Amino acid sequence: MSKRYFIETWGCQMNDHDSEKLAGTLETMGFEVTQEASDADVYLLNTCTIREKAAEKVFSRLGVIRQMKQNRGGEMVIGVTGCVAQQEGAQIFSRAPYVDLVLGTQALKSLPDMMDRIEQRQGHQVNVDKDPDNHLFPVKQISRKAKLKGLITIMEGCDNYCTYCIVPFTRGRERSRPVADIVAEARMLAEQGTKEIELLGQNVNSYYSTVSFAELLRQLNEIESLHVIRYISPHPKDFDRDVIETIRDCPKIATNIHLPAQSGNSRILKRMGREHTRNHYLEKVSMIREILGNQCSLTSDFIVGFPGELDSEFNETVTLLEEVGYDRIFSFMYSPRPGTGALKHGDPVPQSVKHERLQILQKRQLEIQKQRMEARIGQEVCVLVDAIKLGERFPVSGRTRDNLLVHLDVGELAPESLFSRSLPVTITGAGVHTLRGRLGVS
Ligand code: SAH
Ligand code: SF4
Ligand code: F3S
Repeated sequence: MSKRYFIETWGCQMNDHDSEKLAGTLETMGFEVTQEASDADVYLLNTCTIREKAAEKVFSRLGVIRQMKQNRGGEMVIGVTGCVAQQEGAQIFSRAPYVDLVLGTQALKSLPDMMDRIEQRQGHQVNVDKDPDNHLFPVKQISRKAKLKGLITIMEGCDNYCTYCIVPFTRGRERSRPVADIVAEARMLAEQGTKEIELLGQNVNSYYSTVSFAELLRQLNEIESLHVIRYISPHPKDFDRDVIETIRDCPKIATNIHLPAQSGNSRILKRMGREHTRNHYLEKVSMIREILGNQCSLTSDFIVGFPGELDSEFNETVTLLEEVGYDRIFSFMYSPRPGTGALKHGDPVPQSVKHERLQILQKRQLEIQKQRMEARIGQEVCVLVDAIKLGERFPVSGRTRDNLLVHLDVGELAPESLFSRSLPVTITGAGVHTLRGRLGVS
C-alpha cells in the first residue's frame, strides 16, 4: 500500500498554493493524499505568522499532531512549512524535537532530498535557504485542489517593508515569473476545464518582467475558454491608469478592486511606511470610479491601534469608510511582529482600546455595506456558478465579476447542469454579505 500524506494549511492564498506544490511533490514521490489526518505517514503543517501569537498556536497544534504520531508508534514524519518555519528555522526542533523537518517558504524544491535523508534516519532536516528561483516551480508537479478555479503564482516576495508587517522577512525579495510561463500555465489550465484563474503574489500588481502587470492581464484576457481572471494581493501604489483601463477594456478581468488603505490618517500612514497619504488614496479611488463607474466593487484592509494612534486619528479611518463606500473590509487589531520597524514605537494602544476601535469600525462598515448591497437590487449581472450545495434552500451560488456572492433562484432547472457556467442574472434581494438573484435579464 502506498504511503499517505496530509497537509494542514493556515494563512493566505499563497500558502494554499504552496500546499498544492508540496502535495504534488509528495505525489511524484509516490505518496497518496488521505482525508484522515491520523492515518498520515507524512503530516505537513503549513503555517502563517501575519498576526498574533502565531508561533504559540503552531506549538499547541503540534502537540496534537505529536499525539497522532505516538498513536502510530512514532511512524509519522512531521513537517513544519510556511512563514513560521521560515521565521523560526531550526529553533522549532528545540521546542518540539518530535518534528522531523522544517521547510521555509523559499526552498520548496528541496522537499524530496529532505524526505530521503529522513528515510535514511539522518535526523532533523531544516532548509530555510532563499532559493532565488523558488517561484519557478515546475507546473506539472502541482496537485490542484479545485478544477474550476486555478491558482497561479506570478510573483513572490515584498520589498515594501511596511513597518508593521512580517511578510518581507518571511517571503524575501520580489521576484516575477516570465510572462510566457504564466500564459502557458493559464492556457494549460483552461484546456483542462478551469474557468477562473487567480494570480498570486504578495504584491501581485508589482509584477514586472519583460511586460507590465497590465500587459500580462491583456494577454491572459485573450485565452478563450477562461471566464474570470482574479488577482491577490494588490498594493495601492501599483494601480495606475493603465491597469484600471485594462480592467475596463478586458471583460474577463474581475472588477473587484482591493485597495488596502490600512488607515485613514496621513500621520499614521507615514509611520506605517505606506506610500500614500489620505488624499493620494482618495485621488486613486476617484480615478478608479471615473474609469470603472459603478461596475466595480471596492474592498480594503485596515489595522486599528497602530502604536501612537490617537482617537481623532482612528476617527479618520471611520470617515474614510464613509467617504469611499467599501463593499467589504478586512480589519485587524495591530499586532507587534518580531523584527519589524514599528517595534521601536512599542505597543502603546491598550488592547481594550484596540478592541473597541475594531468594533466601531466593523459596525460602521456593516451599515455602509447594507446600503450598498441593497442598491444592487434590480441590477443585471453575469454570475459564474462555482458551488452546488444540494439540500440547501438555494443550492446554486456563484460570484459576480466584482466578486460578490449570489445565491440563485433557478426555478425548475437541475442545479448540477449549471455548475461552471456564466449566466445572466437579475439581482432580486440583498443581505449584508450576499445577494440573491434569478436567472435571466429583462
Ligand atoms: N500585501 C498586502 C498585505 C498582505 S498582509 C498589502 O500590502 O496590502 C494582509 C493584511 O494583514 C494587511 O493588509 C494588514 O491589514 C494585515 N496585517 C499585516 N501585518 C499586521 C500586523 N502586524 N498587525 C495587524 N494586521 C496586520
Ligand atoms: Fe506587508 Fe506592506 Fe509588503 Fe503588504 S506591502 S506584504 S503590508 S510589507
Ligand atoms: Fe501568513 Fe505568510 Fe501569507 S505570514 S498571510 S502565510 S505570506
